[in-house]
Amino acid sequence: MTTTDVAQSLSTDLAAKAKRHLWGHFARHGADITPPIITRGEGVTIYDDQGKSYIDGLSGLFVVQVGHGREELAAAAARQAEQLAFFPLWSYATPVAIELAERLANYAPGDLNRVFFTTGGGEAVESAWKLAKQYFKLTGKPGKHKVVSRSIAYHGTPQGALAITGIPAFKAPFEPLTPGGFRAPNTNFYRAPEAYAHDEKAFGRYCADRIAEAIEFEGPDTVCAVFLEPVQNAGGCFPPPPGYFERVREICDEYDVLLVSDEVICAYGRIGSMFACDDFGYVPDIITSAKGLTSGYSPLGAMIASDRLFEPFNDGKTVFGHGYTFGGHAVSSAVALANLDIFEREGINAHVKEQAPVFKATLEKLYDLPIVGDVRGEGFFYGIELVKDKATKETFNDEESERLLRGFLTPALWEAGLYCRADDRGDPVVQLAPPLISGQKEFDAIYDILHGVLSEAGRLL
Ligand SMILES: Cc1ncc(COP(=O)(O)O)c(C=O)c1O
Repeated sequence: MTTTDVAQSLSTDLAAKAKRHLWGHFARHGADITPPIITRGEGVTIYDDQGKSYIDGLSGLFVVQVGHGREELAAAAARQAEQLAFFPLWSYATPVAIELAERLANYAPGDLNRVFFTTGGGEAVESAWKLAKQYFKLTGKPGKHKVVSRSIAYHGTPQGALAITGIPAFKAPFEPLTPGGFRAPNTNFYRAPEAYAHDEKAFGRYCADRIAEAIEFEGPDTVCAVFLEPVQNAGGCFPPPPGYFERVREICDEYDVLLVSDEVICAYGRIGSMFACDDFGYVPDIITSAKGLTSGYSPLGAMIASDRLFEPFNDGKTVFGHGYTFGGHAVSSAVALANLDIFEREGINAHVKEQAPVFKATLEKLYDLPIVGDVRGEGFFYGIELVKDKATKETFNDEESERLLRGFLTPALWEAGLYCRADDRGDPVVQLAPPLISGQKEFDAIYDILHGVLSEAGRLL
């Protein structure tokens, strides 16, 4: 057997085992479906079990901020595992969790000084909702328990977080969910109602005021929080219109409703700051985060709350009766500290701020193609909306969308060497969020592949 034959037979073996035993997340399964098997990563590149390379155009899943293959993050994990791999934060503490909490509090705006660790984003969202409910029970407003979030927004899969998620198809199989989730419109300016279609600021005001309306409809005494992403992911990267968060902050203050900035994707440099609320000039009451905190070298999430929210729990006896065995895991905390060291040393946020306009300009060249309706996003986080007719913005029906996205685009982009996401949780979009170390070379490579594949898609339609 040659080396190639050995590699081939090993990967055939793995594929068979995957098909027999591995249950993918949000994945289709069936006789003809074998998941690509990724074995290695280096910088902005990933490799499959055949040795073929791909550009990681999505940082794994909006996670690998500093790129793949960083030995110092592996070493930080190993050092911590040797010294103390695990001890719970259940009434105990570890030096790394303490150091990390202080560091995140220092990065966070306003008086967001209290850090509650989880293992991921959905748990951070779940924790924030539970905190909001208990906070109001402790401070004399026990009826406040409902949440307003935006249509098509994704906030995770635990049943509370799923009730905050605004994607009906993701919720239907598991209903009834935790009661109390209500929707307001998202900030998709490309598809703004005609009255606001030419004035982004007025559109922002309109969308924000719908949140006030939802609070009024439900009764201000029953609503505890508004959950919003700085740039909404699902639906394809909707940035906030100018003035939007300023108005939302006013509304939350007026009704005594907590503003939760769900930064599971947007924090840690994705938009160019440690926390994206800073990019858009608002101070929330809670930040939820995960993903990029460790660049994915170990799982970790964090809910960061204001001093005001912590106060009722600081009396020596009241407990936030909530936690996760692995929340704030020592190895993950050590990795997060080392990851943030890389951010500081290499000026990752400054690099994103400097290169974001270059990324945007490169992607905007795709407007040449008739199928490209809208290119939108911020920082290193972009969505390209595909349309049937650019002049009318007509979108694809379900069957066309299925054929276009799953039938053609996903395999064609992968085949051409680009890992990204072709998504139709709203209208069809291709999403891009490359590692934050990317530059013009990677932007050009992404553009070339997209241009080729999207041209072909246009011809097939
Ligand atoms: C905004 C937002 N919130 C929450 C989550 C859930 O995070 P996790 O998958 O780590 O539970 C995600 C995941 O993509 C997200 O984008």
